[in-house]
Amino acid sequence: MRLWFLCAVALGSLGSCHRDDDGDGTDGTGLLQIDEKTQKARKSAPGAVIFYNLFIKTKKDIPRVRKIVHEQLNLVDHPLDKEIRINSIGALKDLSRLKLSKQLAERTKLIAHYDQGFEELTLHDLWSFCKHNGTDPEQLVVYLHSKGSFHKWKGQAATDRYYLTSGALSKECMHMPKTCNVCSSRMTPVPHPHTPGNMWAARCGYIAKLIDPKKFREKMDSDFLGRHNGAPWCVGRGRFSDEHWVNSHPETAPCDLDTNQSFVSGHPMTRTFEKELKKAPRFPIATYHVSWGECPGKGESLTARLAEYRYLYSQEPPKEWWGWRSFLQESK
Ligand SMILES: *[C@@H]1O[C@H](CO)[C@@H](O)[C@H](O)[C@H]1NC(C)=O
Ligand SMILES: *[C@@H]1O[C@H](CO)[C@@H](O)[C@H](O)[C@H]1NC(C)=O
Repeated sequence: MRLWFLCAVALGSLGSCHRDDDGDGTDGTGLLQIDEKTQKARKSAPGAVIFYNLFIKTKKDIPRVRKIVHEQLNLVDHPLDKEIRINSIGALKDLSRLKLSKQLAERTKLIAHYDQGFEELTLHDLWSFCKHNGTDPEQLVVYLHSKGSFHKWKGQAATDRYYLTSGALSKECMHMPKTCNVCSSRMTPVPHPHTPGNMWAARCGYIAKLIDPKKFREKMDSDFLGRHNGAPWCVGRGRFSDEHWVNSHPETAPCDLDTNQSFVSGHPMTRTFEKELKKAPRFPIATYHVSWGECPGKGESLTARLAEYRYLYSQEPPKEWWGWRSFLQESK
């Protein structure tokens, strides 16, 4: 019998059985588990740790956003095997107001409340968790946010949110092969490698190599990239740096799911889609040209992409890198 399960049932509280190395409530690299053979307690990491950036502008938005949270977290398969860590930004200070099911509530904790803030707060906590000495490099983390929480419940934002969340939490991403280290509904390589909508699953070993999300935007905004590369959305600068971050390292090995090539940027047409995990980018480069918009030709230059890797990480991509597959052109 697994100790953590008993703890959760007997005490109705995740925290009570949790190892909390830093004592700040933001750590907990694993849960205690009794090995039946040796009767020794050992750490066993949960299947995935989900970091959720929750934004609720005003108190009167709480009932509406609660439905959004329920819809997203109900997509968590096997919640007993997961941990959900929430940063709440804005009106909600107490997770009990989310009225989660007992099972989800047991697996969920508040990292912190902020009056205001942006996605990099939660990306930073996810990154810190992965950097923590002792976190298994194979450990899966998922990044979600309450997309569209300031819009009405139905409509395009709801389609986007379901499309993105159901990919990041899919069984395909939860069981991604070793050849992938980031997994999402869609990964788009131009005008800069990014995950449109920014929800994904990833391995800690890869995440730990990335620049601190709190410093990434500044790094992308520096003269080195800004001078010759054009508008922020063409480069992954400014607020577009959050979508670029998880794909910014030369060792990124993205996989994506959506078999239909109609969505590569902007908004997906449908909530649900046929999922088949493949190495990304999965289509020929011409398929992604639509995502160029006002950035024609941007991101197709091998020289520029390698220069950015050197600037950010002082590193060349490994031979498995997606960009070597005749994707980027020397001459562009
Ligand atoms: C990480 O943990 C290992 C094993 O506990 C220890 O030997 C090592 O010194 C630690 N490294 C850091 C940077 O704390
Ligand atoms: C791909 O998606 C588009 C837009 O939703 C749809 O019109 C088309 O039929 C889909 N193609 C396939 C092969 O399912």
